Amino acid sequence: MTSNTISSRKTDHPIDSLFTRRWSPRSFMEKTVPDELLMRLFEAARWAPSAYNHQPWRFIVMRTQEERERIFPCISEFNLAWCKKAPVLVMIISEKNRDGEPNHSHAFDTGAAWSHFALAAVMEGLITHPMTGFDFEQARKILQIPNSYEIQALVAVGYQGSADALPEPLRAREQPNSRRPVEDSIYSGSFGKKFS
Ligand SMILES: Cc1cc2nc3c(=O)[nH]c(=O)nc-3n(C[C@H](O)[C@H](O)[C@H](O)COP(=O)(O)O)c2cc1C
Repeated sequence: MTSNTISSRKTDHPIDSLFTRRWSPRSFMEKTVPDELLMRLFEAARWAPSAYNHQPWRFIVMRTQEERERIFPCISEFNLAWCKKAPVLVMIISEKNRDGEPNHSHAFDTGAAWSHFALAAVMEGLITHPMTGFDFEQARKILQIPNSYEIQALVAVGYQGSADALPEPLRAREQPNSRRPVEDSIYSGSFGKKFS
């Protein structure tokens, strides 16, 4: 699906289609992403808010075949089946401490940066697919990630390919999913109190 709207995703309230056009396809074209385009995604991530403006996020970018293949052994069989074609893999990590003290929002802040990244990708005609289906400790060793950083997710970035290019069990799943109703995620005033 490459159209500008996603008809299967109906929103309960009117929002910019940018939010529903971001989804996580698994079919990637074997096409290089120009660095200039890639840098725009990191630029968008850069402007995410963070506690004390500490910017705890870091991104380890794997663009060459050699770089990507180094981490293939730690990726689950299910994920490797589709992500091996992605031209860019990005390991997102977050710095756990700030000034020697635990930074309680490092994951929250890094999640915000990832969200900027993913939405910027949609704006550039790219797709992203985040994964946690890989061996974190093996990845830490391969990428030489210090223990002071937490591994958050591995993200495949590239151009969307045809669903037909996927092996069968994945082909049928290659479509945007939906969400529970918005009211089911929000409470009014205190936990558990229905918002209406
Ligand atoms: C932190 C995180 C980990 C994920 N891990 C995987 C994964 O290992 N394999 C996979 O195929 N999808 C993975 N996903 C994709 C989710 O299944 C997907 O984001 C979710 O179903 C919502 O669909 P959408 O992104 O297409 O809107 C992950 C997503 C997130 C945010």
